[in-house]
Amino acid sequence: MLAGGAATAVVATSHASARTGDRPAADPAPVKVSFKVNGERHDLTLDTRTTLLDALREHLHLTGTKKGCDHGQCGACTVLVDGVRINSCLSLAVMHEGDDVTTIEGLGTPEKLHPLQAAFVKHDGYQCGYCTPGQICSAVGVLDEIKRGVPSHVQADIAVSPAFSNLELRERMSGNICRCGAYSNIAEAIAEVAGEKA
Ligand code: FES
Ligand code: FES
Repeated sequence: MLAGGAATAVVATSHASARTGDRPAADPAPVKVSFKVNGERHDLTLDTRTTLLDALREHLHLTGTKKGCDHGQCGACTVLVDGVRINSCLSLAVMHEGDDVTTIEGLGTPEKLHPLQAAFVKHDGYQCGYCTPGQICSAVGVLDEIKRGVPSHVQADIAVSPAFSNLELRERMSGNICRCGAYSNIAEAIAEVAGEKA
């Protein structure tokens, strides 16, 4: 059994080490990174923990790309990097040195919409519109994947080139959630651009 003075010393020491352990580590030094967004080169100095999504929205003020879950579960943050769709909330900006990023702002203009943007308007493929930039960027990626023969999990034989179908569409767009439930119109819009019936 510890005498009173010794016990007090032990408690004081353990409190002191707990405080030391809780001390936050120093912030990492900022890092320079350069990449193109919608054809324009940007040189940024960023905290290494900055996601590509936050770099686009908070540093470049391209707020078309949306933050939904920030955990890779909703697809609202989908952008194209070197033509391939990714969830920008799951990717650190400093990993994109020299990359070519395309956001919804780079797909078309109000005067000259991208065919998928025009199809979403025509088919009413949205309600609140929050998921829409991600849905459209993802759809651009999907049609390109099918064209390039990238297999999906619903193909019976991955040696055979995939073809556009409802099943393929549902599988490939399954990472893009629409809380308004505009799915049937989204599917019609994408199918029209693919030259198929949803
Ligand atoms: Fe990136 Fe939801 S915000 S997947
Ligand atoms: Fe509202 Fe998709 S249109 S979440």
